[in-house]
Amino acid sequence: MPIPLPAPTVRLLEKVAKEISASAYAPYSGFRVGSAVLGASGKIYAGCNVENASYSLCHCAERTAIVSAVAAGERKFQAVVVYTPTPAPTAPCGACRQVIHEFAPDAIILSVCDSAARLETTLPALLTHAFGPKDLKAQPTASKAPGKR
Ligand code: THU
Repeated sequence: MPIPLPAPTVRLLEKVAKEISASAYAPYSGFRVGSAVLGASGKIYAGCNVENASYSLCHCAERTAIVSAVAAGERKFQAVVVYTPTPAPTAPCGACRQVIHEFAPDAIILSVCDSAARLETTLPALLTHAFGPKDLKAQPTASKAPGKR
């Protein structure tokens, strides 16, 4: 179970996530998303979605925030907050769940929106039987049988 965070920290994360959504580059979807992640160090990193004319190259806000944090030297996270401009909260997409699993498997995941509704959950609840670093440490069966593919 994730460690509960102090209310002022959660409020700050929500504020940062909402504010950074103004920087979203979302000319195709018009869906401006913001994310704030709380590193193990206590620092907060923000990210927005960044779309591309080649649609499949869009970056989600959560991944932008996590990748920025990793580039700054942070590799463990206490919380991932996502803001969407919707009446109901939106959970991270599947790709983001996988990236959250890599760096923040124990983090609180909080989705906030334009109403008071919120969704607080955990990664195991969102991504069961996740594939991760531990699976690559297991010896691949194929390599135990040289000559066979
Ligand atoms: N998006 C996010 O930034 N985070 C999510 O968890 C879901 C979707 C973005 C990607 C794309 O730019 C737009 O929202 C519409 O899917």
